[in-house]
Amino acid sequence: MTTPVVVLDRYDDVTAALADPALVPVPAEPGPPGGVAWLRATVARFSAGGTHTGRRALVEADLARLDPARLRLAAAAGFEADARLRAVRVLAQALGLAEPEAVARAVAVVAGAYFADRPEDREADAAMAWLLPRMLPDAAEPSPEHAANRIGLLVQACDATGRLVDHARRAAAQGAPPAGLLAETLRQDPPVRAMRRQAVRATTVGAVAIPAGAEVVLETAVAAAGCPGAPTLAFGAAPRVCPGREHALALASGILHGASEVPASDASDRTGGAPVGAADAAAPSAAPVGAADAVAPAADAPATDGRDPAEVVTAMVGHVLALAAGWTDWDGRPLTADGRTYTPHKAIRRVTDHLIDHLAELEARLAGEATRPDHWHASAVTTPADLAPFTAADLDEARSRLTRLGRVWAVRLAALTPAQLDRSPGTGWTFRQLAFHVAESAYYADAVGDLTRQDKVGS
Ligand code: HEM
Repeated sequence: MTTPVVVLDRYDDVTAALADPALVPVPAEPGPPGGVAWLRATVARFSAGGTHTGRRALVEADLARLDPARLRLAAAAGFEADARLRAVRVLAQALGLAEPEAVARAVAVVAGAYFADRPEDREADAAMAWLLPRMLPDAAEPSPEHAANRIGLLVQACDATGRLVDHARRAAAQGAPPAGLLAETLRQDPPVRAMRRQAVRATTVGAVAIPAGAEVVLETAVAAAGCPGAPTLAFGAAPRVCPGREHALALASGILHGASEVPASDASDRTGGAPVGAADAAAPSAAPVGAADAVAPAADAPATDGRDPAEVVTAMVGHVLALAAGWTDWDGRPLTADGRTYTPHKAIRRVTDHLIDHLAELEARLAGEATRPDHWHASAVTTPADLAPFTAADLDEARSRLTRLGRVWAVRLAALTPAQLDRSPGTGWTFRQLAFHVAESAYYADAVGDLTRQDKVGS
C-alpha cells in the first residue's frame, strides 16, 4: 500500500502542522550501534514525545555553554574556505573537543548520509566510529546518547550553516545590501526549504484532513514567501525550532564579515569616537567583500586639514616610537583604556596592523579590486605575546618596522594625484581621509602612555 503524501505550503497550515503532536519527524530506522543509522535513531532531530524532550535537553545544555559572540570571533579568525568545515571546527573547538579540524572533516562526511532515510554509507559509518569516542573527553563514563546528540548538534550545524553562508555570498554578489544580509537571505533563499513529518494518528490542519500514517511535506520556504512580514520559518517553529539559531547566525556572520562586527561588549575599539582599525564595523574602508559597499555616513568620515597626509602618517609613527622608547620600563601590568586592555606589544601590534590593513585597502582600490574580508581580532583580544616584556630588542625591531611602514605610506601618498587623494577610486573614505584616519593609531600608543621611569628622566 502506498503512503499518502500531503503537501502544506500555507504559512498558517505549516506553523499549525509544526505544532501538532500528531505530526512527528519521520522516525529513523535503527541500525548497528555506532553507525549513522544508529545516530539518526538516537538524536533529538528524529525523535518524538518524551524521548525528544530528553535528547533536546542534552543539546540545549551543550549549546548553553557556547557564547555566540565568541563563536563569531572564532569563525571570523578561521581560514577554511569551506564554510561548513569552519562552522563545525569552531563549534568543536568551543565544546573542548581535541582535533577540531579532523572532527569537522568527519562530521561533514556523516552529514552527507544523515538525512537519508536508509543511510548505507561505509565511509560515513567509519567517520562515526572515529567521532564517537572523541565526543565527551571529560566524562568518566561517556553516555552514548549524549555523545550521539553532540554529533547530532555538529551535523545539524554543518550543511545548514554552510548553505546560509553560500546563499548570503551569492546574494551579496548579486548586489544585495550588506545591512540585514543574513536575515534577508533566510527570508528569500533559506538553507532549509522544506521539512517532513509523519502522522502518527489522523489529524486536521486548517481545512486539510491528514490520515494516520500519511507523510506530510511542509514547504516552509514557499509558506514564508507567501506571508511577508511573518516570523521566519527558516529555523522551523515551536516546539522543535532549531536550538542553534543564534549560534548559526553568529557563525555565519563571523565567516561572512570577518571580525568586523565585534561583539557589542567589545565594540569600543575607537579613537575619540572615530572608528579605528579593520575591526570596526563602521569603517567603510574596513568593510569586507559583500559589505564593501556600505558607505559610511559622511558624519563618520575622519576630519582632514591642510597638512600633507604623508606627513600626518609619518608624524604619527614618530609619536608612537617616541612613547615606545619608554616602554622597556614597563612593569608588566596591563593598562586599560576605554574598557580595553593595552600593553606595549599590543599597541605596536595594533598600530602596525592598522597601517597594513588600510594600505591593503588603498592598493586594492587603486588596482580596481574589491577589498577583502578581514580577520583581525584587533583590540578585542590580548594575546600571550601581547603580555610579553618589551625589551630593548623589541623596541629596535618596532623602530625598523614602523619607520619602514610609515615610509611606504608616505611614498604611496606622495605619488597620488590630488584627484586620487580626494576623489578616490572604489568605495569608502577618500585616501586623504584614510591617511588622517590611520594617523589616529596614535591612540593605541597613548593608551599605554609614557612609561619612562621618573628616576631615568633627564639622566
Ligand atoms: C543556518 C543554519 C541553520 C538552519 C537554517 C537550521 C534549521 C533547522 C531547522 C529547520 C530545524 C528543525 C527541524 C524540524 O523541525 O524538523 C533544526 C533543528 C535542529 N538544529 Fe538547526 N539549523 C541551523 C543551524 C544549526 C546550528 C548551528 C546548530 C547547532 C549549533 C543546529 C542544531 C540543531 C538541532 C540539534 C536540531 C534538532 C532540534 C530538535 O529536533 O529538537 N542547527 N535546525
